[in-house]
Amino acid sequence: METVFVRVARLADLTEQRGVRVVARECEIALWYVQGRVFAVGDVCAHQHVPTIHEGILNGLTVTCPRHGWTYSLESGKALEGDGRLPVYPVKVEKGEVFVAVPAEDV
Ligand code: FES
Repeated sequence: METVFVRVARLADLTEQRGVRVVARECEIALWYVQGRVFAVGDVCAHQHVPTIHEGILNGLTVTCPRHGWTYSLESGKALEGDGRLPVYPVKVEKGEVFVAVPAEDV
């Protein structure tokens, strides 16, 4: 699938270990700034399909949904238990701006 990088935030506006919700081309994304890296995963929990992942509890490179505790890897998006999965979006940071790769619009 063709993707395009979309600017979603300024790095200076992100706080270490605090999630931020952004929307890029209809993709609901939770940004997490952890250990100097920015991760972008789907914000919609695979359990009950609610946008809670940006409010999750961080533990290392995992985030736990505040609703019922499903825990996901920020690197793979995969739930640590069960077969739930969040989409993972490639991230790049250029000149202090954060970009996330999302599916390109149909041409
Ligand atoms: S809605 Fe996320 S664990 Fe239930």
